[in-house]
Amino acid sequence: MKAERLPKNARLPALTPIEPVTDAQFEQYYDLRWRVLRAPWKQPRGSERDEREDDSCHLMVLDNDGRIIGVARLHMNTPQQAQIRFMAVETRQQRQGIGKKLLLALEDKAREWGAEEIIFEARANIAGFYKRFGYKTLAPGNTLFGNIYHYKMHKHL
Ligand SMILES: CC(C)(COP(=O)(O)OP(=O)(O)OC[C@H]1O[C@@H](n2cnc3c(N)ncnc32)[C@H](O)[C@@H]1OP(=O)(O)O)[C@@H](O)C(=O)NCCC(=O)NCCS
Repeated sequence: MKAERLPKNARLPALTPIEPVTDAQFEQYYDLRWRVLRAPWKQPRGSERDEREDDSCHLMVLDNDGRIIGVARLHMNTPQQAQIRFMAVETRQQRQGIGKKLLLALEDKAREWGAEEIIFEARANIAGFYKRFGYKTLAPGNTLFGNIYHYKMHKHL
């Protein structure tokens, strides 16, 4: 699917994570999630979503043309514990600081919601990214699609 161009918000500094609002933005938001996190493993559209979408914080980063190039989500498991899911940066745009901006913005949101800790399951090949920001590996996690190994990760806020 070809990404639709979104209006550029000129007031925002480049690469500032913002929340999707319109249907077009959410369409692109889920499309990027699916393309980065599901399509390479031949998973169908829809598999990039779970039952917590409606009570989650969704964040996205836009490029200069208004295309979504990074997405991430946060929800609360308990009043003290937040969980990250579905962090994805457009493949060609990785290692340019976008994931860092998304992760720090999710941490701000978790604090705003009163969370004392963040947990999630990180793909094993990505755990090093989270460790740079103070996350600790707790234990092996799930194996997704037969060969994507995860670690349970954690950080006190
Ligand atoms: C993981 C991901 C979100 C990181 O986003 P990114 O924009 O590429 O990361 P950044 O450029 O912000 O990296 C921030 C720092 O982490 C480092 N880093 C990035 N990916 C890393 C990795 N896989 N392992 C170790 N360090 C990593 C960067 O070098 C950078 O270090 P620096 O601050 O010293 O320069 C992105 O690579 C991605 O979408 N990967 C594929 C999907 C995926 O696996 N998502 C996570 C599921 S748990």
